[in-house]
Amino acid sequence: MQSPANDSDATVLFDPTYTESDVSFNQLLDSLVEKGWYVWPNAIETEVCQALLEEAQEHQQEGKLQRAGIGRGDEHQLNNDIRRDKIKWLDGKTPTQQAYLAKMADLQFRLNRELFLGLFEYECHYALYQPGDFYKKHYDSFRDQANRIVTTVLYLNPEWSPGKGGELVIYANEEDTKPILVSPYFGTLAVFMSEEILHEVLPTQQSRFSISGWFRLNNMQGSQVDPPSQLLTY
Ligand code: OGA
Ligand code: MN
Repeated sequence: MQSPANDSDATVLFDPTYTESDVSFNQLLDSLVEKGWYVWPNAIETEVCQALLEEAQEHQQEGKLQRAGIGRGDEHQLNNDIRRDKIKWLDGKTPTQQAYLAKMADLQFRLNRELFLGLFEYECHYALYQPGDFYKKHYDSFRDQANRIVTTVLYLNPEWSPGKGGELVIYANEEDTKPILVSPYFGTLAVFMSEEILHEVLPTQQSRFSISGWFRLNNMQGSQVDPPSQLLTY
């Protein structure tokens, strides 16, 4: 009896469903597993990014972006020395936000299917860093209270000129690797493991819009299921 062809004999057929974004998604998986981070240029289409930017700019004009604090609920405190950005949480009420949240739901589904992460929900906020603003070195989650598992940051700056601060700096886990500087270009999505990757935003000389988001585990307390994140007070 003839043995079935093994992998090395197999012919690779053109797969019409195999698109550019699948290639990037596969790279994202490999990179998240190996290094804990990935930077995905043009991850979200221009029209969606443009609409998100316009919404963020409207929030700014209407004074709805608020100084961000650190920690939740009672632990919430403003800390000028650590971060200076202004934020507004997305509530998913506009078609623009729904388009973005649908993309993130798809990403959540694929991460769960491929990496068994058990991601339960996604929370995110617009952020604006104005000249002089920064966010010092930090982790987005700590192991003892961990329920933020994967961080995403979508950048919304169509006219970004590099080399004037405002970069995301990723401190790679491997000791011999230099820090990675990420310019916040329009449509780029940075993705990293919230508990593992130390990172910061360098003081910026130009206004910088983004959406920071986190895929979370369900934080069960007894038999009570975690409420949706927009119900929590920040
Ligand atoms: C954050 C954060 C990085 C960035 O919001 O926690 O680290 O590049 N943002 O905006
Ligand atoms: Mn962070």
